[in-house]
Amino acid sequence: MAAMAGSVLLAFLMIFTILSSSVSSLSLNYYDKTCPNFESAVTNAVKKAMKNDRTVPAAILRMHFHDCFIRGDLKGCDASVLLKSTKKNVAEKDGPPNVSLHAFYVIDHAKEAVEKMCPGVVSCADILALAARDAVALSGGPNWAVPKGRKDGRISKASETRQLPAPVFNISQLQQSFSQRGLSLEDLVALSGGHTLGFAHCSSFQNRIHNFSATVDVDSTLSPSFAANLRRICPLQNKAKNAGSTMDSTTFGFDNVYYKMLLGGKSIFSSDQALLTNPKAKALVQKFAASEAEFGKAFAASMVKMSSLTGGQEVRLDCKVVR
Ligand code: HEM
Ligand SMILES: *[C@@H]1O[C@H](CO)[C@@H](O)[C@H](O)[C@H]1NC(C)=O
Ligand SMILES: *[C@@H]1O[C@H](CO)[C@@H](O)[C@H](O)[C@H]1NC(C)=O
Ligand SMILES: *[C@@H]1O[C@H](CO)[C@@H](O)[C@H](O)[C@H]1NC(C)=O
Repeated sequence: MAAMAGSVLLAFLMIFTILSSSVSSLSLNYYDKTCPNFESAVTNAVKKAMKNDRTVPAAILRMHFHDCFIRGDLKGCDASVLLKSTKKNVAEKDGPPNVSLHAFYVIDHAKEAVEKMCPGVVSCADILALAARDAVALSGGPNWAVPKGRKDGRISKASETRQLPAPVFNISQLQQSFSQRGLSLEDLVALSGGHTLGFAHCSSFQNRIHNFSATVDVDSTLSPSFAANLRRICPLQNKAKNAGSTMDSTTFGFDNVYYKMLLGGKSIFSSDQALLTNPKAKALVQKFAASEAEFGKAFAASMVKMSSLTGGQEVRLDCKVVR
């Protein structure tokens, strides 16, 4: 009798789990009835900000990646990156690798516009996912439909930014970081192509150009002229806080130049270079370097996968504070 009650309970639990996971799953038409046509308000906010500041697309793409990769349950895309610190809590945005995070105001402006259309309906996490897509598309990259229905989280901890992969990671560390989140080697190679946009500070690639190992000062996988240039920009006793390098030679264009430069020894991070140390990953790098269309297709598919890792609870009214 007890065993039967147990199995009935188990059956109920299983049904409940299936139901609740389908309730939290995302869909393309999630807001069709509650807030149709709001996506153009997000696109307009990104467009407007880009006109005044060309670094906005890189900032938003990195912000979304950062959001998705951080949270203890590995279901990160919950806009926790947008929350500001409080008296009792230091938030993600004030955690260590935050030098590159900026342009939060773009998401706030988009949210304000969307709130005017339909108050309290669209989550900040969805707005950030859409803005990241727009940032890529408006920079000449692929466009894709974003499944929606994310909820915003209530927890944001500076200490959890440790969950981000580090630029000194090798291929096995990168693969582990991605596979923990259900992302494959192909996702890793395609999403690393996000480094076609933006800028890196000296501290992020310092390991490759000074005191690289016990025997050599400079990473020998770097092209010598490229390394010399990075060393000129970032001398060992570097005092300039904002010194650094663009990620590829077409900083503001979303293209496959990152992969071409990587094959030529001109990548910025050890984690980029690491993609060439695995034969399968290297073959993908070669494929994306040879075809921008293949890269665009793979990037869009992997972005949808990454941005579906979500587990929030509410729809915030102001993206900076919990409800
Ligand atoms: C694979 C593991 C990754 C590592 C280790 C990594 C590491 C970094 C680091 C260290 C920076 C520079 C921070 C600074 O010095 O200011 C950076 C910048 C950036 N990352 Fe990544 N990243 C990774 C994956 C990604 C992914 C998946 C995306 C998006 C799809 C992305 C998009 C960007 C962008 C756009 C920037 C430039 C930000 C700006 O200019 O404002 N990264 N990344
Ligand atoms: C990064 O964190 C520091 C404190 O650790 C904070 O003063 C700064 O405003 C943060 N930067 C951003 C862009 O939030
Ligand atoms: C990557 O680094 C980790 C930690 O330092 C090390 O244990 C591992 O052997 C390295 N893997 C490769 C492929 O170099
Ligand atoms: C280089 O690294 C070694 C040990 O790895 C360290 O003892 C030395 O101080 C470093 N040199 C500089 C200039 O940072």
